[in-house]
Amino acid sequence: MNNFTFKNPTKLIFGKGQIAKITEEITKDTKVMLTYGGGSIKSNGIYDQVIEALKGYTVIEFGGIEANPQYSTLMKAVEIGKKENIGLLLAVGGGSTIDGTKFIATAINYESDPWEFMVDQSILKEITPVKLASVLTLPATGSEMNCGAVISKKESGEKFAFMHPLNYPQFSVLDPQACFSLPKRQVANGVVDTFVHTLEQYLTYPANGMVQDRFAEGILLTLKDIGAKLLENPTSYDLMSNFMFSATMGLNGFIAMGVPEDWATHMIGHELTAFYGLDHGVTLAIVGPSLINVMREEKKEKILQYGERVWDITSGGEQERIDATIAATRSFYEKMGMKTRLSEHGINADDFATIAGRFESRGWNLGENQSITPAKVIDILNGAL
Ligand code: NZQ
Ligand code: ZN
Repeated sequence: MNNFTFKNPTKLIFGKGQIAKITEEITKDTKVMLTYGGGSIKSNGIYDQVIEALKGYTVIEFGGIEANPQYSTLMKAVEIGKKENIGLLLAVGGGSTIDGTKFIATAINYESDPWEFMVDQSILKEITPVKLASVLTLPATGSEMNCGAVISKKESGEKFAFMHPLNYPQFSVLDPQACFSLPKRQVANGVVDTFVHTLEQYLTYPANGMVQDRFAEGILLTLKDIGAKLLENPTSYDLMSNFMFSATMGLNGFIAMGVPEDWATHMIGHELTAFYGLDHGVTLAIVGPSLINVMREEKKEKILQYGERVWDITSGGEQERIDATIAATRSFYEKMGMKTRLSEHGINADDFATIAGRFESRGWNLGENQSITPAKVIDILNGAL
């Protein structure tokens, strides 16, 4: 097992009716900036619950944060935030709203153009963000209990992640009932995103992380069991609560302790969103199976373990078992309603060299061994056609 240091300061407040409790976490003199997305919280009653809970507080609202939150939209909130003395940013929504809020929290206390810290993250050391918290409505990203955020800039076609250790939410409310209004497309996105987060931290090389591996397999097996059922029954409290907890545990640092991490599926996926506007979860369902195939030798031992422990694949030679494991993974994404091929989205190979060129110019080699070169990125994309 590798050395590690672990700290996760986010307080989780989980369960039915917990939104009413947020005021126990916020002092009365705190000026709150409430941030949200395109309006789902207004139609499903979550906005009303939050406003009711915050009666008597000074609340400034900022709505309209889009999926794949955009720099230009967030900068409007930053302008407002710089003028007001905001004590807490409260994000109510999915990963995009929470990520966008992390950006706003950081950018409010940065005097130059915040895109600078997206590109050069060494600058983040100099910034103390405003405190933030969240009420989660879409299990997927883990943003409710991690310090990462992914921000898009359509002007330059870029999508970058950043991490600031002071961007962990102070608290996050996870009421599974807040997710009952999710459309199938977002349930599918969330299940696949959580599944791939887990694989990114598991499907690498053996590091003797016995507990970590079994935590990860626990999440994968849970998603395998509940994924398709949840698509049909998004208002089942039992299913949604297990999905919500899986998503949070999938990307809050727990399963990453002391083990290698990959993240290449995500980095390539972000480019597919930046180029073609595909949903984040959709890009992962496309890139994931092809990446496992291209990296099958390097990842062999963990692919075989994953196949055996998650998909019960125990017979046949190694290559056959690896093929069967990739097929089972693809079939799971397809059962979640995902298309797993670029061609099914009408995308051909025209931009692959440009995408690989971006990694080249940034000097990025991807994967747990940094062995996914720009040339391998092209192989992975070709395999996903
Ligand atoms: O904007 P509204 O109207 O709220 O609608 C949203 C949005 O259209 C809707 N939605 C959310 N909760 C709902 C709901 N609709 C009905 N009922 C509800 N309860 O769902 C749509 C998608 O929301 P979004 O927040 O974009 O989805 P998600 O949570 O999947 O977030 C995706 C973003 O997170 C980034 C992705 O790259 C992408 O930009 N990620 C963030 C990570 C992190 N912070 O650690 C890691 C991830 O790997 C990921 O990269
Ligand atoms: Zn993700």
